[in-house]
Amino acid sequence: MRKQIAAANWKMNLTYQDGEKLLDEILDAGISLAPHQHAIFAVPFPYLIMTRSEVAEEYNFHAAAQNCHHKTAGAYTGEVSVEMLQSIGVHYCVIGHSERREYNAETNAMLAAKVNLCLEYGITPIFCCGEPLDIREAGTQNDFVATQLKESLFHLTAEQLRTIIIAYEPIWAIGTGKTASTEQAQEIHQYLRSVLAGKFGAEVADEVPILYGGSVKAGNAAELFASPDVDGGLVGGASLVAADFVSIIRALK
Ligand code: PGA
Repeated sequence: MRKQIAAANWKMNLTYQDGEKLLDEILDAGISLAPHQHAIFAVPFPYLIMTRSEVAEEYNFHAAAQNCHHKTAGAYTGEVSVEMLQSIGVHYCVIGHSERREYNAETNAMLAAKVNLCLEYGITPIFCCGEPLDIREAGTQNDFVATQLKESLFHLTAEQLRTIIIAYEPIWAIGTGKTASTEQAQEIHQYLRSVLAGKFGAEVADEVPILYGGSVKAGNAAELFASPDVDGGLVGGASLVAADFVSIIRALK
């Protein structure tokens, strides 16, 4: 079965102490994941080592960075390289979250460079795509997300592509409390998979987990994840509340 993933995105929230407490509460819930199920915590950089050691003994629990730089190393004050992440044993990194695309002017080409570096250093990219509200209202969301995939991922080999995770996050649903309907999510996830199949073959496309993000909550996760092409979620707000994120992990297929 394709991997099913509940990924927390803490964004720029929580103190170190609050983060540690939240992780402890989640880990104390006694969740036992099946081999195809994974829980990932995308935490702020200063919390990565703590998170990695908290989850170290837990089966299929992982730490993730929320970003990395698109250059290997050098005079980039304040930035964090993929090699640095690798050197502390982090194996996942969120790439191209819409907030970074918007506030940090990240382009599809820059994201392609980040994906390449991640793969070179053995880090799994959680590649984000998704359309803003005006594109959804114009009905051109499929073309919009297909372009994001094409410009950042289509240079990869099929072998590389099969190792990545995709997160579809409609910008109009992020942090707004407005969730895509199950039908909307399934429809576009199926479309994204067909775009991947067209380039890399159906067998490879079938292996790539496509997570839904945008106001996933304890109360709607099971319904969203039940769709055949929705392989879990990338969760912001609800990942900051232990009981909610525990329910979301338990809602995985
Ligand atoms: P949200 O954020 O769950 O708070 O909508 C999702 C995300 O941005 O990853």
